[in-house]
Amino acid sequence: MYTTKVQRTYGSRSAKSRGTLVPPSSPPSALASSPPASPVPTRPLKRSFSEVSEENIPPIFSFKRTKTLPKASSSKLKQKPQAKEKTKSQKTLTQLHFNIDQTILRTCSLCDLSYTKGAPDDEALHRAHCLRVRQGMEWGREEEKDRVRGTNDIVTEVASDVKLKGKNKRGRIICVPADTGGKIGAKLSILFQTINLSLSAPDLPPSVLQSSKVYLFLTPQESQAHRERIVGCVIAQRIETAMKVVPAPSSSSTSPTAPTVTVDGETGLFCSPTLLPTHMGIPRLFVSSSHRRMGVATALLDAAAATFIHGCRLDKSKGDIAFSQPTGMGQAVMKSWGQGGVRVYEE
Ligand SMILES: CC(C)(COP(=O)(O)OP(=O)(O)OC[C@H]1O[C@@H](n2cnc3c(N)ncnc32)[C@H](O)[C@@H]1OP(=O)(O)O)[C@@H](O)C(=O)NCCC(=O)NCCS
Repeated sequence: MYTTKVQRTYGSRSAKSRGTLVPPSSPPSALASSPPASPVPTRPLKRSFSEVSEENIPPIFSFKRTKTLPKASSSKLKQKPQAKEKTKSQKTLTQLHFNIDQTILRTCSLCDLSYTKGAPDDEALHRAHCLRVRQGMEWGREEEKDRVRGTNDIVTEVASDVKLKGKNKRGRIICVPADTGGKIGAKLSILFQTINLSLSAPDLPPSVLQSSKVYLFLTPQESQAHRERIVGCVIAQRIETAMKVVPAPSSSSTSPTAPTVTVDGETGLFCSPTLLPTHMGIPRLFVSSSHRRMGVATALLDAAAATFIHGCRLDKSKGDIAFSQPTGMGQAVMKSWGQGGVRVYEE
């Protein structure tokens, strides 16, 4: 049995160590530079889903009464009067301990971001990020004003009146080119930073953004009906090839098995190394935590499959669509939405 391990996009993979066993699936580009790194607090690259509470971190110093000087006998005190004075002033001393194994790095249980407690910049960045992860970003008047460039409307509404599962709430889906500039571009850039930080994923290079569309799920704000919030986002990218998902190789079998690529050993995601022609890749998929399990990701993926290539509805069950190395939650959506037909590609 021959098993190859593929590098992960999210989590463990650093930009430097992004070695490839399988060539990247996205088309090559003339643009080589990446956007500058975002000014965000550092955080562990790979995190488990178990969340650490913010509250129970002990202080860095612990005060412990470990030593009280013993009281000297009276005869000894008579012989050495200066020693008596010293003993009186040092009756109870407190030993300070410096606990170097305790950390001021906190991991937020709501957004999972690790940041330095007490560093004003880190705390401010955490607050803003946490709000965006939980509630999404606003889509307001400024963005609507910027939607027409010359004679072109750069924002296309691809679905309206989409019902959220289990809620008496509806939303709509719009599509925007991923490399849009202006006010919409600035908003997308903050959205992408938030998503990348949440997924511990690198920035998508301009070459990828040029061949991508962004699908946004918007819901009306409760307080201001004319304003909306971006509660879900799918980036859909033009790709050339991807790998078919296959069952885990059996270690008990004695007959030679086909080679497999290990995409995620922990969750047991394996692929066949053969690169198959595939039309659309999903490098980023994100739903704000307040709107999960309501069908937002499903609606966004349906909209992308239907409209990404003009006049050609892509078929998820026939392998037209692939996810870049998916997270555990991404794999759950892949299985549920993709019904076993969604492939995997390397960004
Ligand atoms: C993954 C994610 C985008 C799913 O968004 P969502 O809007 O909640 O997904 P949907 O409501 O459309 O879920 C569709 C189905 O996928 C499966 N699913 C989705 N999230 C799941 C989870 N956390 N655990 C188990 N199954 C899950 C379920 O079968 C679900 O159907 P059900 O709710 O009827 O059981 C969202 O959880 C998220 O943003 N996670 C953090 C970022 C991330 O991991 N992105 C994936 C990158 S590949």
